[in-house]
Amino acid sequence: MQELAGKTAFVTGGASGIGYALGQAFAEAGMRVMLADIETDALVAAVETLRNSGLEVRGVTCDVADPVSVEHAAQASFETFGNVHVVCNNAGVAGSGGIDNISLETWRWVLDVNLMGVLHGVFIFLPHIRAHGEGGHFVNTASWAGMQSGLGFSSYSASKFAVVNMSEGLAIQLKPLGIGVTVLCPSFVRTRISESGRNRPERYGPTQVPDPASPAGARAARLAELSQSGLDPSNVAARVLTAVCEDELYVFTHPETRAEVEERFAAILAALDKAAAR
Ligand SMILES: NC(=O)c1ccc[n+]([C@@H]2O[C@H](COP(=O)([O-])OP(=O)(O)OC[C@H]3O[C@@H](n4cnc5c(N)ncnc54)[C@H](O)[C@@H]3O)[C@@H](O)[C@H]2O)c1
Repeated sequence: MQELAGKTAFVTGGASGIGYALGQAFAEAGMRVMLADIETDALVAAVETLRNSGLEVRGVTCDVADPVSVEHAAQASFETFGNVHVVCNNAGVAGSGGIDNISLETWRWVLDVNLMGVLHGVFIFLPHIRAHGEGGHFVNTASWAGMQSGLGFSSYSASKFAVVNMSEGLAIQLKPLGIGVTVLCPSFVRTRISESGRNRPERYGPTQVPDPASPAGARAARLAELSQSGLDPSNVAARVLTAVCEDELYVFTHPETRAEVEERFAAILAALDKAAAR
């Protein structure tokens, strides 16, 4: 989609971090932007800040894990701005992982938000974009964790691998329709992702905070530290804007992580060589 000005973007997880930066960047490029988020107070503050800068931004409370809520948010966007062209399925949460404290509730929460949330966005907006015929683009936020397994046994990685795969498949099927797909795979970005428990609905049980003295606690603290020293979200948003305009499937933000993915692919290729030799 080469021309963004005058079009409309819908961004989930838009009250904070990468989603907020995406909303700001799209609005600064002349788009109308609907931010959708589960955290209403933060959403109201985010919309106010952007509107005070003269940007055409609105907000709608939305839980991406609930298709009815996403449908409601979509309707609010159509009523406010008319047709939607860019859909950023970006809302995401991180739950504690590893093999020592496996929690089914945490796995369900993370998969419902990170995986089903992306599916709900595609399910609800794709018929709309196909019907209006003005072109469109999906931006699905995965992660570097969707490309390699360094986090270990993790609902977060499992959800992000799925988002990478869904996006690749979607791109193949939408190309002939002139609708683009980008899958965003950043490594550490300076956001509130390590405080994801703030938005964990009661239906998934209480947030598990690992004992700081345990290996899981030390790992969580290290990940929070890495996130705080990560890339500024505005850099990520700028990369995404280019990807939308130039119709790029993958957006990576940390080229230094190349060796990790090479290691994974080398192991897969070696296994295929073994299969060929047998
Ligand atoms: N920060 C990083 O290092 C990093 C790296 C790779 C990928 N990501 C991904 O980036 C995306 C954005 O996260 P972030 O880092 O900006 O974190 P963040 O916590 O700053 O922002 C996430 C936003 O999603 C919202 N949210 C949470 N659950 C929701 C739900 N059920 N429905 C609607 N909104 C919901 C939160 O309220 C918050 O505003 C996520 O998908 C995350 O997995 C982040």
